[in-house]
Amino acid sequence: MNVLQTIILSGLAVAVGMSCTSGQPQGEQVDSAKTLKEAYADKFYVGTALDLGQIKGHNVAALEVVQQQFNSIVAENCMKSENIQPQEGVFFFDDADKFVELGEKNGMHIVGHNLIWHSQAPDWFFVDKHGNDVSREVLTERMRNHIHTIVSRYKGRIHGWDVVNEAILDNGEYRPSKFYEILGEDFIPLAFKFAHQADPEAELYYNDYSTAIPAKRAGIVRLTKKLQDDGIQIDGLGMQEHHGLSHASLEETEKTIIDFANLRVKVMVTEMDISVLPHASPHVGAELADTAAYNESFDPYKEGLPADKMNELGARYVSFFNLYLKHQDKISRVTLWGVGDGDSWKNNWPIEGRTDYPLLFDRHYQPKPFLVDILELAN
Ligand code: XIL
Repeated sequence: MNVLQTIILSGLAVAVGMSCTSGQPQGEQVDSAKTLKEAYADKFYVGTALDLGQIKGHNVAALEVVQQQFNSIVAENCMKSENIQPQEGVFFFDDADKFVELGEKNGMHIVGHNLIWHSQAPDWFFVDKHGNDVSREVLTERMRNHIHTIVSRYKGRIHGWDVVNEAILDNGEYRPSKFYEILGEDFIPLAFKFAHQADPEAELYYNDYSTAIPAKRAGIVRLTKKLQDDGIQIDGLGMQEHHGLSHASLEETEKTIIDFANLRVKVMVTEMDISVLPHASPHVGAELADTAAYNESFDPYKEGLPADKMNELGARYVSFFNLYLKHQDKISRVTLWGVGDGDSWKNNWPIEGRTDYPLLFDRHYQPKPFLVDILELAN
């Protein structure tokens, strides 16, 4: 670690609430005490996903980091359809309300995740009381009611919505979800129309993983163009950015940023994390159904992350932030999918019960050593 890094890290320690007795000269401390949201203030929002422990205020240490470092939030799970409308017509808003209040109290940019997604959707959404698939009309009405009820509740308070999540496969074709089986590709423009009706001021996004895969990128571009040609409002494209140490390719990611921006929509990094663990299958995306059994050899860092791996992780993060900065005119937000490593879904997907290190803060909510490099990049 060089002198500058040491100074910045000390300052950051103060910023995230560690005790620091090093007594740095005043001028350097002011500069070095920068947080992520300060360092990137004139570039793009820096956001994080919040889980229930954070939303309900139980996880005080995590919340301190959230308030100090981030200026945008998204709900990790509590707005997904199985949680927010577990039974038809029975909405559960307690957690989502708290999430929005937390963002407002802290003057944050608030993102709603998500309205229409095949995953974490309750079974009732697609079937009648006999268990048979519902008609086009019934599914359309269920979508309308779901979207209108939620979006109008938070009208003017949630700034942007992930309206449709993960509708395109890695090969660029439509995912054969229940929405697609029953409504065909129409379900996508319908979802965007309903969201726009409910809050005409809200930004509306399409969000997906593995957007650096050329065929998938092309599929999302085709979908977006079609929506635009049909006069449907779409304001942004979300690149989830669930990475590993050797995927996705930076070159392909850059092509995606450029192709998406050429559609004249905002480009956003919506769910970033970088897993250090070996991947269990050839699939490197975020297909929730794509899981594997636990095996010790896939869980090599249970006792801690060796320094060389931490450096590798840091270098990957720095490369991606460099790329995002290069395209800061196109990118409106970079959101991390969680605060500290202990909160990350990557500990349990695609294999349950592993110890991963995919985020910027460790299990004690201390900054990783490379956070200073990410802050310095923005200077
Ligand atoms: C994940 C959550 O992080 C987990 O807690 C949950 O069990 C499964 O979903 N793509 C998305 C996110 O759009 O909503 C997913 O979040 C991760 C992949």
